[in-house]
Amino acid sequence: MAIPPPRPNHAALVTGASSGIGAALARNLAARGHDLVLVARRRDRLEDLAAELTQRHRCRVEIVPADLAEPCDRARLLREVSALGLTIDVLVLCAGFGMVAPFTASEPDRLTLMIRTNVEATIALAREFVPTMVEQRSGAVLMVSSMAGNQPMPYFATYAATKAAVTSIAESLHCELKPHGVTVTALCPGSVSTEFAEVANASRIENRQPGHLTATPELCAEVGLKALARGRRTAVPLLSVRVFVWFAAHLPRFIWLPTCRRMFS
Ligand SMILES: NC(=O)c1ccc[n+]([C@@H]2O[C@H](COP(=O)([O-])OP(=O)(O)OC[C@H]3O[C@@H](n4cnc5c(N)ncnc54)[C@H](OP(=O)(O)O)[C@@H]3O)[C@@H](O)[C@H]2O)c1
Repeated sequence: MAIPPPRPNHAALVTGASSGIGAALARNLAARGHDLVLVARRRDRLEDLAAELTQRHRCRVEIVPADLAEPCDRARLLREVSALGLTIDVLVLCAGFGMVAPFTASEPDRLTLMIRTNVEATIALAREFVPTMVEQRSGAVLMVSSMAGNQPMPYFATYAATKAAVTSIAESLHCELKPHGVTVTALCPGSVSTEFAEVANASRIENRQPGHLTATPELCAEVGLKALARGRRTAVPLLSVRVFVWFAAHLPRFIWLPTCRRMFS
């Protein structure tokens, strides 16, 4: 099972395309010849990327600025994609953000926004676009999760819980949709050099981390799309991160949890 080849009137839709991993995934897909629909809130960033990709790869690039945490914006996105006459056969769900903070100091509205962006929007968009892929017996879905979803993380608690949900749904759908010709992969990076740390108030922690644990967004995109093309269930960029993930998953929780609390406090 593979990523469907570029076809007329078909496109890859990438959320979170205005920055970081999402922008790198869009660049990689354009280089593979796919037409694109780019989605995020910042219109100017999407316009710049669309101009760059159209010029460099001569592909069709449409932009739909939208706040994916808002159900009415998601509904508008579906209407606009339909009006463009495009069928989405590659779906890349990358939009998301994190927050490092003591739970009791976290802004309640921001926690809710995180759940709606990272989990609700991911599930809702997959539910909208996957049925056509199943009908056509062809489609690929890359859900950008995180190694944070593999275990609980004090001071990063809600983010880790949202990513546990994303990894879980991706792995379930990987198995459920395989007989229908649709492949689903969870991309689970460790630290990646994007705007994420600044948004998450985690720059201090990222700066303390050894460099070999931090991937570039370009590497992340390449590893994720290679895994998607090969029909893999999950993908983790960087061997050092895969080793870290293994230890974090196998350490007894009574050792892991206070270790993590020290790292993030
Ligand atoms: N960087 C890391 O260390 C790391 C590690 C593991 C997993 N991840 C995951 O990778 C994904 C991409 O993050 P990144 O590292 O590339 O960070 P980033 O550079 O901050 O990009 C985040 C993207 O999500 C979009 N976004 C956020 N909220 C949105 C909303 N309500 N509606 C629409 N778009 C929204 C942003 O666009 P606008 O602001 O323009 O809306 C931006 O394009 C996230 O899901 C993140 O959890 C990141």
